[in-house]
Amino acid sequence: MQRLLEDAARRASRYLESISERAVRPDPEAVRRLSELDVELPAAGVPGEQVLKLLDERVGPATMAMAGPRFFGFVIGGSLPVTVAASWLATAWDQNVGYYRSTPGVSHLEQVALAWLNDLFGFPRGTAGGFVTGATMANFTALAAARHAVLKRVGWAVDADGLSGAPPITVIAGEEAHPTLLKSLGLLGLGRNRVTRVPVDSQGRMRADALPRIDGPTIVCLQAGNVNTGAFDPFEPLCTAAHRAGAWVHVDGAFGLWAVAAPSRAHLASGIALADSWATDAHKWLNVPYDSGLAFVREAEALRAAMAVSAEYLPAASPQRNPCDYTPELSRRARGVEVWAALLSLGRDGVAELIERNCRQARRFAEILSGAGHRILNDVVLNQVLVSFGAAEKTLRVIDAIQEDGTCWCGPTVWQGQTAMRISVCSAATTDADVERSAAAMVAAARSR
Ligand SMILES: Cc1ncc(COP(=O)(O)O)c(C=O)c1O
Repeated sequence: MQRLLEDAARRASRYLESISERAVRPDPEAVRRLSELDVELPAAGVPGEQVLKLLDERVGPATMAMAGPRFFGFVIGGSLPVTVAASWLATAWDQNVGYYRSTPGVSHLEQVALAWLNDLFGFPRGTAGGFVTGATMANFTALAAARHAVLKRVGWAVDADGLSGAPPITVIAGEEAHPTLLKSLGLLGLGRNRVTRVPVDSQGRMRADALPRIDGPTIVCLQAGNVNTGAFDPFEPLCTAAHRAGAWVHVDGAFGLWAVAAPSRAHLASGIALADSWATDAHKWLNVPYDSGLAFVREAEALRAAMAVSAEYLPAASPQRNPCDYTPELSRRARGVEVWAALLSLGRDGVAELIERNCRQARRFAEILSGAGHRILNDVVLNQVLVSFGAAEKTLRVIDAIQEDGTCWCGPTVWQGQTAMRISVCSAATTDADVERSAAAMVAAARSR
């Protein structure tokens, strides 16, 4: 056991220590050779050491360096070293964190981490939270609580009686809602296409003046951090109007919610605490390893009612918080361990520094690229930069060149009809030198195509 774990630690350390010097994209030869893993399941098992060797030597080089300092694709954080180490320990403990009584250590850590997060995000006292896989499931979880609450108010018990025959729920979301929010609504039987979409402005912010008249059970879905521009919906007027009409307000804050924890960015999310529920990721801006998302609900009972289960063989009601009363899963890994470790090791100031540094770095990218004559398509208010290198074909060619070069990695998008490259800065590992080096590679790639 010890030899195997030490071998894994050695290999993992080597991987992480060399990650800033290797190409960010997966090694093409290693990707080609992945087909050599397509073998019949052997009758006799292979010793652990050889299994690890195969992983390290065959799969490691075929990974994208997402844990490194110059991966700027999608919205992907790295992992603080302490969170990788904490994750290893938690994996060794192998706790199924459903019930406090059976897993007191990790259940307790979840409570502590949730209290810290409630404080960091300025949520109302008593806000309940659940640890899930990511923002998609966090949206799903919080929206299940919303569905429960808005139907309960009109006398319908959706968790018991389902949606057939239920009073209809109106769901309102901006034209720029993330597609996974719509997926969550579909999973909840609220329909991806039944959503009333509200027009947005040039940054993707919902127009408060375009909020439709609200009548009957209604959920209004707002966004903190547009995946392309980083923009925030105007929470104060929207929450006020929605609440006046009796609606539930949910905020998808997959990465944008973290702005609240950074004094220089918090104004962007002004009024966010007025909402009823929030979703965010820890695997994005808190820099814990995949997978880790968080759902928060002001009305704890609504979340419990939507998520709790009971059975004779399961531990009976406890005075402590049972984690499975707040998540879709009964059995799951103890995600709270890494969240707790990240928060404790960073402290309030460290979280703020991480968010503010990445925002400053995003602005530096914009400065260098616009200085080189390229067009920045968004107001760089957070950690997202959209850059056009000219016509769509040229922009796509430059993105290919940047990915092939391997200094850094960015992906494409189409923003309000214009093809662009997205730069998303959310890694604790990214230094200012990484930004200069990556921006220089981008400018050189644009010159070459
Ligand atoms: C605004 C927003 N919501 C939801 C998601 C989905 O998050 P996850 O992939 O963690 O489920 C993303 C992912 O980037 C996002 O940016």
